[in-house]
Amino acid sequence: MEESASLGQFIPLHYHYNMLSDSPRLLGFKEAIAVMVRPGARVLELGAGTGVLSFFAAQKASRVWSVERNPELAREARRILSLNPGAERIEVVEADAFDYLPPEPVDVVLCEMVHVGMLREKQLPVISSFKKRYRERFNAPLPLFVPEAAIQAVQPVQQSFDFAGFHAPVPLFQHPYSVQSDTKGLGEPVSYQTFSYNEDLPERCDWEGMLTVTESGSLNALRFITKNILAVLAAKNSTIDWFSQYLVIPLESSFDVRPGERVKVRFSYRPGDPLEALSGSLVVTGG
Ligand SMILES: C[S@@+](CC[C@H](N)C(=O)[O-])C[C@H]1O[C@@H](n2cnc3c(N)ncnc32)[C@H](O)[C@@H]1O
Repeated sequence: MEESASLGQFIPLHYHYNMLSDSPRLLGFKEAIAVMVRPGARVLELGAGTGVLSFFAAQKASRVWSVERNPELAREARRILSLNPGAERIEVVEADAFDYLPPEPVDVVLCEMVHVGMLREKQLPVISSFKKRYRERFNAPLPLFVPEAAIQAVQPVQQSFDFAGFHAPVPLFQHPYSVQSDTKGLGEPVSYQTFSYNEDLPERCDWEGMLTVTESGSLNALRFITKNILAVLAAKNSTIDWFSQYLVIPLESSFDVRPGERVKVRFSYRPGDPLEALSGSLVVTGG
């Protein structure tokens, strides 16, 4: 099955348990939605899944349109939402977020089709498409977006790819909120992209830059980090953040590095591309 179909568009119901039980993700969204959705607001969710974010929104909103393309999930979202308070204010719409517009302007758009690096899932193309069609249809100011922004970074690492004696340098995902004893950071993460959802969104994730080594080791992988800024709390001078799972991509060959050395990195892919678009474009050279 094409990757965009298997992951970007159709995340099976049993995988939603993982997303529901991911506390940093869920509590981050819950807090951000409580801040961003004013009493009586109209809210649109793109990519509803089980409907959990629409449920959070409906605790304050007067109306929530909750769009899900996968028919099985749309049915499940209706069933699960009906078990929870506020369901009468939520309309689950089985539709493609690339086509759908709500019947009237909305105050807030929720969209969590986020994958590390903005790879695989269609967050950026979906929101770009929504903004274009929304402006044409309503000729109104854009709603607020949750998440509001993102910062993407890359870090040089030494990664163990040893699995019970079997050496297998494969791409891997890491829980960002746990200690990763198999990974040694060889330098600080460097930001390669920052964007706000209410501004023009990037059509590519291209970078050519230098990473500075701060620890000795064998540089054999790069770690990709996506920090989602769910809400900006201007009055408190702070943000509500959620990190996507880290992605570690093995390099074709490793090399020893020492503090002070600089490593040149280049890559280029489009948001929504499969992982291979990033790994296949990656060029890393020692300084
Ligand atoms: C990462 S899940 C998030 C689900 C839910 N919002 C949550 O936070 O638990 C993304 C959801 O978007 C849906 N989706 C993906 N592409 C879509 C599209 N083009 N139109 C509507 N829904 C889509 C998937 O089926 C999936 O349920």
